[in-house]
Amino acid sequence: MTRRSVLIGTGSALPARVVTNAELADKMDTSDEWIVERTGIRQRYVAGEGESTSTLATGAAKAALAAAGVEGSQIDLIVLATATPDQTFPAVATIVQNNIGAQGCIAFDVAAVCSGFVYAVGVADSMLRTGMAQRALVIGAEVFSRILDWEDRTTCVLFGDGAGAIVLEARESDDANAPGILATRLHADGEHNQLLFVDGGAGTTGTVGKLRMKGREVFRHAVNKLAGVLGEVLDDAGYRNEDIDWLVPHQANARILEATAKKLSMAPEKVVVTVDQHANTSAASVPLALDVAMRDGRIKKGDLVMIEAMGGGFTWGASLLRI
Ligand code: UT7
Repeated sequence: MTRRSVLIGTGSALPARVVTNAELADKMDTSDEWIVERTGIRQRYVAGEGESTSTLATGAAKAALAAAGVEGSQIDLIVLATATPDQTFPAVATIVQNNIGAQGCIAFDVAAVCSGFVYAVGVADSMLRTGMAQRALVIGAEVFSRILDWEDRTTCVLFGDGAGAIVLEARESDDANAPGILATRLHADGEHNQLLFVDGGAGTTGTVGKLRMKGREVFRHAVNKLAGVLGEVLDDAGYRNEDIDWLVPHQANARILEATAKKLSMAPEKVVVTVDQHANTSAASVPLALDVAMRDGRIKKGDLVMIEAMGGGFTWGASLLRI
């Protein structure tokens, strides 16, 4: 018998306010045409008063619990990926825990920026398979709008706010085709941390800081690193590119998604794209896209789904799961 982490529900939450490219073009030297052509982004959601990483994460968590038919009290592990916690501490995971009535369970945050959700999935899967937990809530939630330099057009047009969540349950099966997470690979390379970083922090400036990015260089690394890690995960799980039913990538730039699909010889129709609607929501982007494609019926029971992400650190990773 093999113990696997099975996806039993997804959920997401977005701020109330939509900001279009045209609205940004009214305020700064940019255009809808430039943003769409270079990134594929048409709009993003931006958190307003009363909205934060924890409120969005709680909304996504409740939706995922409802989809799974599970009560908060039945969750014994919460792993939450974010780079924009409500406060430096406590972990946002503990705020969500309190909001959903899961008191007493394991709850902590993971900091791997845009790859945070894939890292969180890897951590939760390991803990479920070793028996430390039975049912996990894995969340990616961000309000990047609060760490953007709204004077810097090279970064502020790229990001948005939101949250996505999944419920994983440990199940035993003899069947090689049973649902569950099949393989995960995670990587980091601190050599490049000056290409994408925040210029402040609790332990240095005592301020939150603003996001800084050398976009063109990040782009180049992203395509190569993602192609590499996807190949590793497929090898580990014993599958080939053509076996993947759906690629659910981190949504940073439509051109990165196209280049990654091309490297995998995957048809563009098999790639779930939400960057046009959500922009780059960092750790929230993969679970948000997953929830969209589960709810609109594209991803079905039995499908083989690859999730992947790359971001600040650099960090990158991918995970293959049977739905
Ligand atoms: O989630 C973490 C991972 N992050 C990523 O994966 C992001 C990766 N990078 C990218 O997505 C792209 O590099 C960007 C979308 C950030 C930029 O696209 P690019 O095609 O690499 O453009 P660029 O940075 O080379 O800039 C081209 C031109 C520049 O003007 P000059 O120097 O050619 O005259 C920029 O100043 O576009 C200009 N530009 C803009 N123009 C209008 C930069 N930002 C804007 C803007 N509106 N918002």
